[in-house]
Amino acid sequence: GSTGTGRGHGKAILLGEHSIVYEGPAIALPLLEMNATASIRAAPEARIASDLYEGAVDGAPARFAPIVEAVRAARAVLAPGAGPFELTLHSDIPYERGLGSSAATAAAIVTAVADAVGAAPDEDTRHELIQRAERVAHGAPSGLDARAVVAPTPIRFDRGRAEPAGVASPLTFVVADTGVRGSTREAVASVRARREADRAGIDAVIRRLATLADEAAADLVDGRADALGDRMNEAHALLVRIDVSSHELDALVVAATAAGALGAKLTGGGRGGCVLALAPSREDAPPLASALVAAGAARVWTTTVGASSNQE
Ligand code: MEV
Repeated sequence: GSTGTGRGHGKAILLGEHSIVYEGPAIALPLLEMNATASIRAAPEARIASDLYEGAVDGAPARFAPIVEAVRAARAVLAPGAGPFELTLHSDIPYERGLGSSAATAAAIVTAVADAVGAAPDEDTRHELIQRAERVAHGAPSGLDARAVVAPTPIRFDRGRAEPAGVASPLTFVVADTGVRGSTREAVASVRARREADRAGIDAVIRRLATLADEAAADLVDGRADALGDRMNEAHALLVRIDVSSHELDALVVAATAAGALGAKLTGGGRGGCVLALAPSREDAPPLASALVAAGAARVWTTTVGASSNQE
């Protein structure tokens, strides 16, 4: 038939944002309770219907450029002969908060186009199509987000590829949104500019962030929550040094630590967006979340990885 649906979910980066642009690995967690969904159906002209824009694809506002590219790339590769269609989008992933909203939307679109024409692209083809939209959104994305928003489990990402990250015992995290938008494109560009000015200094930070991510993967496998928390704290301090944090992010990190979090750091591109905090136990998560709201978080989410159902 000529209708199709698709989805992608949110993600939080546990360790390795920014360093992954230069050197792996990075670890990402799925946020399965927040989703972008897409549905498409044949229509007389190419249209988009979404919460933010409704109208012809040609007249879509500039911030829809990655969406238009996802549609164009998916059609060109998966449905070359298909006629025009209407794309209906919905997302409850907050936009520009480092939670993977752009990649999840692109994943939803690519999957919906494939579904509509009965195509079954392999993982790498799907990844490349999502990446085409991500390049329009972010310039030179590592591919971490594109892999994370379609993976149901925590992943270890390196050199464009993802594998499930083993998690020995359940870990509960609180994600707290500053409510401030942060542009991943600008944050990545600013790290690049700093690195051009101070290659040795910034490369040392990048190398340490990548090492922390690598060690964190082992912490997950071995169930070392305290060590993982320490690595998160060190990573935040390093991300502050490369100037991708903000006063609001730093304040939430301080509040999380004061409320007993084992570790806390910004997550994603930074400059705005969210903090990820590791709760000592599942029972400790609600008071940690309340403390973050009291400290100014616009919204909080709680996620557990490594439970028998993987995530709740
Ligand atoms: C953004 O979620 C993660 C960054 O490392 C950028 C990228 O991986 O392309 C900041």
